[in-house]
Amino acid sequence: MIIKAMIFDLDGVLTDTAEYHYQAWSALASELGIPFSREDNEQLKGVDRMGSLDFILAKGGLRLPEAERQRLADNKNRHYQQLIETMTPMDLFDGVTELFATLKARQIAIGLASSSKNAPMVIERLGIEDAFDYVADAAKIAKGKPHPEIFLTVAKALGVHPQEAVGVEDSLAGLQGILDAGMHSVGIGDGRVLQDAEWVYPHISAMELDKVLWVKNGERSERGVNCSPPP
Ligand code: BG6
Ligand code: MG
Repeated sequence: MIIKAMIFDLDGVLTDTAEYHYQAWSALASELGIPFSREDNEQLKGVDRMGSLDFILAKGGLRLPEAERQRLADNKNRHYQQLIETMTPMDLFDGVTELFATLKARQIAIGLASSSKNAPMVIERLGIEDAFDYVADAAKIAKGKPHPEIFLTVAKALGVHPQEAVGVEDSLAGLQGILDAGMHSVGIGDGRVLQDAEWVYPHISAMELDKVLWVKNGERSERGVNCSPPP
């Protein structure tokens, strides 16, 4: 099976917006008097806005009416949008421009599977909106990560079979979605958190594209490090 597409998460993979989401949730949790650590935040990565809010409220044992939940989610989003307001193409992680250029040269499609409704604004600020062959609309995804729907939607739109695609994620929820979609997987971040990914790199600039794209007869070694180098 030949890899025909790479499907990327955005926040924490292509730019540091995972940190901005964390800061905005952390501020909200603190206002509510709910302890919220970076470890807790790992559970929220990839999870949509209301799902994230509900995680924090449950942690604090708070049950709030719908209107109040909506108000809190809107506040968090306003704070997040203030944080991303000053983003520029300089905020694109190192290695992404070169990676996209290589994928284009090899005619490998590039997809975006972000749960964030702010993703169009972020990719515009980063100046990469034209790099994608397809960008998922988070508002139209019925079942958020860890469900595979968003990855399957992007693969379908790109006209590739899930086994012909590699998903790239920094979140546990997103990685689960990639695995359940039946795609190849690259984790970006901590190998102890993302241990089920076929390949894990601390940063997208460290990704060994030739190795990741090397798939022989659909068979992969359990972990990238055990794979023979590409021919
Ligand atoms: C994901 C982030 O990409 O998008 C989550 O990892 C975030 O932290 C989710 O909650 C939804 O984002 P937004 O911008 O629609 O609130
Ligand atoms: Mg992410």
